[in-house]
Amino acid sequence: MYILFSFLSLLLAAHLTTAIPYSKYILAPSNRTLHPASIHRINGTITNASSLLSNSSTTGHATFHPNSSITFDYLQNIAGVVSVTVLSSTSPDAFIGLTYTESSLWINKQASDATAPAGLDEVLWLPVGKGPGTYTVERWHERGAFRYLTLVNNGSASVVVESVVTNFTAAPLQDLRDYKGYFHCDDELLNRIWYAGAYTNQLCNIDPYHGDAQVHFGDITFNETINLPQTNTWYNNITITQGGSCTVDGAKRDRLVWAGDMAVSMPSIFVSTNDLGAVKNSLDSLLALQNASTGMFPYAGYPFNEFGIVSFTYHLYTLIAVSNYYHFSGDLEYLQNNWGRFTRGLAWSLSYIDDTGLMNVTAPADWLRVGMGGHNIEANAILYSTLTRGITLATLLNDTTSISTWTPLATKLKTAANALLWSPTTTLYHDNETTTLSPQDGNTWAILSNLTLSSQQNSQISTALSTRWGPYGAPAPEAGSPVTISPFISSFELEAHFLSSNPLAALELMRRSWGFMLTDPRMTNSTFIEGFSADGTLKYAPYSNDASVSHAHGWGTGPTSFLSFYVAGIRILGAGGGEWRVEPLVGDLGVVEAGFWTGKGWFESRVQARNGMVVGMEVCAPAGTRGSVRLLGVVGLLRSEKGEEVTLVDGLAEGLGGGNWTLVLA
Ligand SMILES: *[C@@H]1O[C@H](CO)[C@@H](O)[C@H](O)[C@H]1NC(C)=O
Ligand SMILES: *[C@@H]1O[C@H](CO)[C@@H](O)[C@H](O)[C@H]1NC(C)=O
Ligand SMILES: *[C@@H]1O[C@H](CO)[C@@H](O)[C@H](O)[C@H]1NC(C)=O
Ligand SMILES: *[C@@H]1O[C@H](CO)[C@@H](O)[C@H](O)[C@H]1NC(C)=O
Ligand SMILES: *[C@@H]1O[C@H](CO)[C@@H](O)[C@H](O)[C@H]1NC(C)=O
Ligand SMILES: *[C@@H]1O[C@H](CO)[C@@H](O)[C@H](O)[C@H]1NC(C)=O
Ligand SMILES: *[C@@H]1O[C@H](CO)[C@@H](O)[C@H](O)[C@H]1NC(C)=O
Ligand SMILES: *[C@@H]1O[C@H](CO)[C@@H](O)[C@H](O)[C@H]1NC(C)=O
Ligand SMILES: *[C@@H]1O[C@H](CO)[C@@H](O)[C@H](O)[C@H]1NC(C)=O
Ligand SMILES: *[C@@H]1O[C@H](CO)[C@@H](O)[C@H](O)[C@H]1NC(C)=O
Ligand SMILES: *[C@@H]1O[C@H](CO)[C@@H](O)[C@H](O)[C@H]1NC(C)=O
Ligand SMILES: *[C@@H]1O[C@H](CO)[C@@H](O)[C@H](O)[C@H]1NC(C)=O
Repeated sequence: MYILFSFLSLLLAAHLTTAIPYSKYILAPSNRTLHPASIHRINGTITNASSLLSNSSTTGHATFHPNSSITFDYLQNIAGVVSVTVLSSTSPDAFIGLTYTESSLWINKQASDATAPAGLDEVLWLPVGKGPGTYTVERWHERGAFRYLTLVNNGSASVVVESVVTNFTAAPLQDLRDYKGYFHCDDELLNRIWYAGAYTNQLCNIDPYHGDAQVHFGDITFNETINLPQTNTWYNNITITQGGSCTVDGAKRDRLVWAGDMAVSMPSIFVSTNDLGAVKNSLDSLLALQNASTGMFPYAGYPFNEFGIVSFTYHLYTLIAVSNYYHFSGDLEYLQNNWGRFTRGLAWSLSYIDDTGLMNVTAPADWLRVGMGGHNIEANAILYSTLTRGITLATLLNDTTSISTWTPLATKLKTAANALLWSPTTTLYHDNETTTLSPQDGNTWAILSNLTLSSQQNSQISTALSTRWGPYGAPAPEAGSPVTISPFISSFELEAHFLSSNPLAALELMRRSWGFMLTDPRMTNSTFIEGFSADGTLKYAPYSNDASVSHAHGWGTGPTSFLSFYVAGIRILGAGGGEWRVEPLVGDLGVVEAGFWTGKGWFESRVQARNGMVVGMEVCAPAGTRGSVRLLGVVGLLRSEKGEEVTLVDGLAEGLGGGNWTLVLA
């Protein structure tokens, strides 16, 4: 039985590898042994440096003369354990130092970019004078993300180096280019954005034994000034989850499990690598930390949970992660096994609802926005989303007690939020009753959660948010000064525009903000940054240490899932893909294609459009599933390969089974 199963999965795996088109866009390497791609800069004298490059035609060697350094540019963010193979040196005291940075801003021969709240990270010194051989940094000094690697010979010896190799350690259980989904359209920038999001999540998929030990958390604070030559030690040697891989917030930093980040990264992982096993290990690590008496989940996973920080929103994001994990995996047993945790967790949040009907937030921790307290709109919209998801799940599980407890609370919360926090003047929600600040997070979550009362209200919010954009994207006024652009909250804003039937706004925001994040020369040309300023400087308001910002942060990967779900239009409605709707919102695109595997099988949508109107479409859905196709304004029918025909009525064709369906215009 087992052998038969393995044989079948091999067949299936072989099929998957050949079935995914457009793999040339995948940024993950085909080989985990990486040589430098190019030379960024040489200081001092290094002869034959180009012999160290991956495209070097010879197997030569480079000579580092005294006081020399070289900075390699891998042309994209990479990760791993570096080895230097040395043929000879002229002194037993010779050393080669290694420094790493994601952004070109922090190239330095005295330090790496930062993982601590202040200062820069130490140089790793390899004692290459000991004799010929390969010198490898300790595994706990793998670097989670870097585009630039500098090798420094700061002594008086000459050192002959044969090779500089990085063992790519990210996504340890993945066959790195064996994606389970694809996207393609007639806008190359959007194509690159989809694949950069997928790759960002691969770098944020790590071996759980190599989380960041955070040795300076609480020891070094944001407000300290640490000047070179003083640098900070760093160790990636703490075990953060069980299993063989897990997903974390950022590749360089924090290398920790955060439930908020998963709200964006999990869907994007689902449509690309489909590595839900790593997601599950991370989610399990949070579920295991639920407070036995209060039901509260931690702000972040181990070891950060030990600080005991309370976050009303990240607590709820853990519940949302359970709901999303079930939605994407279709794993009913997982949901059932964790249902007690879900209901106890939701009860904790509900205990903070006061007689207004809204939750009164009494702890400030969130995604590092400021002013989180009282009847905050973001926290209440996220609670509303959790309640409605909970009601859907409780219905599935026949938990009538929960349904009858949660339904009236949800209704009252929605009424109260609109009565107390909506401003018809700004056509946005206020952060709370005592401010006129209209946050990006609360307004986008109001649409995502259906806290809004009508599609007109959604359109008003969508328009009001887009009028606030600057050249680099959408501001988050709730995140302090200087005005911040958050790829996390902007990911939610993208979805808010799609849900407001405003795909042009969503695509424009992707091009403007994610295009900037991808192509600006200070970025990595491959992964998405954690945050930056509205004026385009790489300063993220919550941090005083600009060098500590992460350039590979899963919470900024929203476009990857939204291009598949909304632009190509493949929406999973019932758990694991059992029920679906294909509803492309193509905006100004002429050709869009996407596909992905689910537990039920392969979904694909191929669309041709003119002026935002679909003129051709093929849909593939797995056998045994049911779904619908919605094409507003289109008159015609869907025809299956077996000849069945379903007419579009007011743009909607319902009751489609699995199979291949083609649009036939009337
Ligand atoms: C990966 O690269 C290493 C070293 O360059 C080489 O020995 C190996 O054959 C390559 N593996 C594959 C699968 O190409
Ligand atoms: C440079 O590399 C070539 C092989 O590519 C080798 O023959 C030569 O000795 C090297 N020169 C130096 C100065 O290292
Ligand atoms: C190389 O030299 C330039 C110019 O002197 C200096 O600005 C830069 O910091 C040096 N780079 C490294 C990696 O030492
Ligand atoms: C790369 O690192 C992994 C994980 O430590 C290890 O299993 C593998 O052997 C290493 N590969 C090479 C070529 O050193
Ligand atoms: C720095 O911040 C810490 C807490 O983050 C605070 O305890 C300390 O007083 C601050 N130091 C200065 C000099 O502001
Ligand atoms: C991480 O490594 C450092 C240096 O070897 C060590 O002091 C520390 O105890 C290690 N931490 C863990 C959790 O293994
Ligand atoms: C209300 O919102 C404003 C703006 O975000 C904030 O400054 C204030 O602290 C909030 N009130 C509470 C009670 O958190
Ligand atoms: C929220 O609760 C705190 C603590 O009990 C209280 O001081 C505050 O007034 C409440 N806020 C609102 C808006 O009711
Ligand atoms: C819920 O009840 C229905 C009807 O009794 C039953 O078919 C279904 O299996 C139940 N679901 C679960 C998860 O127990
Ligand atoms: C959103 O709420 C409205 C009522 O305000 C309701 O009519 C609609 O069905 C809800 N939409 C969804 C998707 O639940
Ligand atoms: C960025 O990466 C793309 C491929 O993803 C490549 O075509 C382009 O040349 C790179 N740009 C720079 C400036 O390196
Ligand atoms: C859809 O068509 C492809 C061939 O174009 C076929 O391999 C696949 O099995 C069909 N899918 C279904 C669900 O019938």
